[in-house]
Amino acid sequence: MATFYPLSSEADAHLAPIEPKVFDLLSKSLPAHQRDLFSLRLQRHFQDLYDGVHAVYGHRDDFGDFLERLVLLMAGQYLACPENLRQRHAESMIWPDWFQHESMIGYIVYADRFAGGLQGIESHIDYLSELGVTYLHLMPFLKPRAGENDGGYAVANYRQVEPRLGDIDALESLTSKLRAKGIRLVADLVINHVADDHDWTFRARNGEQRYIDYFITFPDRNLPDQYERTLPEVFPVTAPGNFTFIPEMSRWVWTTFNQYQWDLNWQNPEIFLEFTDIILFLANKGVEVFRLDAIAFIWKRMGTDCQNEPEVHSITRALRAVARITAPGIIFKAEAIVGPHQLMHYLGTGRYYGKVSDLAYHNSLMVQFWSSLASRDARLMTRALSRFPTKPSNTAWASYIRCHDDIGWAISDEDAASLGWDGFAHRKFLSEFYSGNFPFSFARGGVFQENPQTGDRRISGTTASLAGLEIGLANKDEKAISLAIERILLGHALVFGYDGIPLLYMGDELGCLNDYSFSQDPDHALDNRWLHRPKMDWKKAERRNDTGSIESRIFRGLRELIRVRKQTPQLHAQVPAIVIDSGHPHIFTHLRPHPSGNLMCVYNFSEFPQTLTPHLFDTYHIFLPYDLITKRTANAWDRLVHLAPYDRLWLVDASSVG
Ligand code: GLC
Repeated sequence: MATFYPLSSEADAHLAPIEPKVFDLLSKSLPAHQRDLFSLRLQRHFQDLYDGVHAVYGHRDDFGDFLERLVLLMAGQYLACPENLRQRHAESMIWPDWFQHESMIGYIVYADRFAGGLQGIESHIDYLSELGVTYLHLMPFLKPRAGENDGGYAVANYRQVEPRLGDIDALESLTSKLRAKGIRLVADLVINHVADDHDWTFRARNGEQRYIDYFITFPDRNLPDQYERTLPEVFPVTAPGNFTFIPEMSRWVWTTFNQYQWDLNWQNPEIFLEFTDIILFLANKGVEVFRLDAIAFIWKRMGTDCQNEPEVHSITRALRAVARITAPGIIFKAEAIVGPHQLMHYLGTGRYYGKVSDLAYHNSLMVQFWSSLASRDARLMTRALSRFPTKPSNTAWASYIRCHDDIGWAISDEDAASLGWDGFAHRKFLSEFYSGNFPFSFARGGVFQENPQTGDRRISGTTASLAGLEIGLANKDEKAISLAIERILLGHALVFGYDGIPLLYMGDELGCLNDYSFSQDPDHALDNRWLHRPKMDWKKAERRNDTGSIESRIFRGLRELIRVRKQTPQLHAQVPAIVIDSGHPHIFTHLRPHPSGNLMCVYNFSEFPQTLTPHLFDTYHIFLPYDLITKRTANAWDRLVHLAPYDRLWLVDASSVG
């Protein structure tokens, strides 16, 4: 069969018998041009689809049948796609770098905590637009398990919305209203596990072999004990161990996270088909970005920590090809909180450069921000981020300083040692600092899942409370309050200026503090991550334009940074962020090299003013520094750059400003 895109002979031989079936299916109800568009995309991306699934399922006798079922399933969902969304996908094909664009601003919300539910969000779209949001991550909103459900990450039904929040029609209505305002909806795809009250688990418990095979189960502790030797524990305090005994089945089930979250068996191609169908079903309701939750964990291998196995990337590559063929407007974001070298595989390395996920969380940037803030020393951050491998040019980071999860001190011993620091001691210092136990700490946070075996103490808390606002307010200390606000603005400037989609976490734009009420709720009491998941305070939001209020100082500060970001082509994610050693311990600097003039982002991590001399900038052709944020130019006679406490400057050469 002749395709316009070169295929390997194996891929070609597999596609040949499938193509006519796709043609027949689509010809029945679609105009020829829409049928042909699918066929062209199938030809273009079939090799990636084939390679991805072949790496995982190619050894099976039924591989050919599987591939045919997969492609026909995709064609079926393409048929089911509403016309306006097919148009949307066509638009994304002519703007494939939309998610790398400097106009992208992300915002993360809990539908109930933000606005009562999906419909409520519709009435707050103007608030999001006022801030400049273009990407809305709605925390898990699909029907979760009854009772405790890990913040919705234990999904009972992927085709129903949590009834408290609305229904599938409300989801469709919301996505269409958001699209009209230039905002894309991001949904979690919980891909590693399902809730123990999902239909598949019921059927497995009832002894249906088809569904027993959806999970990873063992008749006794023999293999689980062997696996446990190298497996870490994600929630050592509340859910120790990685296996749970299910009396009805008389078997041990793999449960990496909580006992009520059953890990799926991705070795079974039926799981791939199920998730392909779920993704395309949700895409047809208007979801445009899928956050691949806990993606690192989906493949297990004896003798390893069962994270980052090569099959994980093959599966993601295949899912990406499914999307490129069927619904090219959708993209994937990897939630892989792993070391830098492992992380790069989620965006693609070698042959698969740029062919895996489109986005990945930049956990290190977040960790280094809090580390430098506590130590007032940017050298470790400079060291760690300058060693970070370069990402593929068609991908972007999701950059953030806070999200719904805890902060784990992912600081390598090697990076710490290169400064003569002890990694363990520094991590211990950070836990003490951010739990508020270190002398003169400005932070108020909580220790999450202390692990006595490893010494790990992760941290919960909102941006504002960790940055000093809670203590400043409690002490009615104006100076402390001002410094906290500057820290909050510094962190956001950092993520707005770094490379990728900056994510704002709900309430951070108003300085929302820790919410201690979680301990009264039996479903949340054991999980202090609820400390930083407060309800949106709309009273605070009303004060966002009252000059001089804390809310307005933060909100307007962020809005201005966002406005400047959107006019700065150097901040497109195709332009790398290159870390430069400023030679100054308190200052973090990086460059965004660009033909229209280099941009140098400069951040002061200390509460004292600092001064930089021109030679740092001359090297990068910024002879007379002009700050895009304050619109100030350095003095022409000394060309010195002065930074106020926690200042952030986005410098270009004055001559490049019109
Ligand atoms: C991800 C989520 C986290 C959840 C876990 C298990 O890491 O961000 O909140 O607990 O997955 O689903």
